[in-house]
Amino acid sequence: MHELAEILKPVEGIAREAGEILMDYYGEIRHIDYKGIGDIVTEADKASEKLITERLESRFPDYAILGEEFGMSSVQSDNCWVTDPLDGTANYAARCPIFAVAIGLLHNGTPVLGVLFDPNTDRMFSAVKGGGATLNEVSIHVNDREKLDPIGLFGFGSPVLEILHPFIQKCGKGRSLGSAALHICSVATGYFDGSFDLYTKLWDIAAAAVILEEAGGSMTQPSGAPLFPLSSDSSAYQGHDVPFLATNGRIHEECVNTLKEEKNNKRNLR
Ligand code: IPD
Ligand code: CA
Ligand code: CA
Repeated sequence: MHELAEILKPVEGIAREAGEILMDYYGEIRHIDYKGIGDIVTEADKASEKLITERLESRFPDYAILGEEFGMSSVQSDNCWVTDPLDGTANYAARCPIFAVAIGLLHNGTPVLGVLFDPNTDRMFSAVKGGGATLNEVSIHVNDREKLDPIGLFGFGSPVLEILHPFIQKCGKGRSLGSAALHICSVATGYFDGSFDLYTKLWDIAAAAVILEEAGGSMTQPSGAPLFPLSSDSSAYQGHDVPFLATNGRIHEECVNTLKEEKNNKRNLR
């Protein structure tokens, strides 16, 4: 395996190039395809993933690659790049400038490197396992709120907003930016106390997971069970949902317990 700290800069460069592609197409999208109800893809998603895949393949020919739009490469490896070429496609297609490029690296099913680039604000979030997390090369840390608080910000995926009313009330001010990866990085920077989503995929969370962990936060399944390492036959690699709870760590147990209470109240929760 490559030395993680040495490959971080090149991966940031790839994410930045992909972000430039997104900005080239931004506002010029001519064609939108539907992958399912409410699930769209544009030519920019595909162009961004094509560039990321080409760059990663040429530099790391022995590593597997999983991308949202083109799936898993044929390479068998303990090292797997996981990329979301455009997190926030619905925002992007509506010309709402909240979206990002995500590139994560899993080693034996555990995120060990993550890069998230937001081309609208020129923000580069990055981390390697054991090396701390940075935003534009400045260290970032989760906030130190000890309890859920009415003034705290908490990110939710939009479908969760519909089914989780009591939990959201306890969490303070619910926010739904349209990018799960930016939600998690907003916890890593201390803006948000936490974030919760049910319908996310591995490519939404792989890069941000290591950034959050290195910023001092916690990320688990909503039940509190560990998310990682994924087994090599995990359905997450086939694009099955990977629900998550991400917090500053201090409020994690309180959130897990509150979600359990909601589940006991027979709400539509996993
Ligand atoms: C979506 C966004 C959204 C989350 C969805 C994801 P996409 O990703 O991250 O915030 O709630 O579950 O699918 O489709 O824009 O890459
Ligand atoms: Ca996504
Ligand atoms: Ca995407």
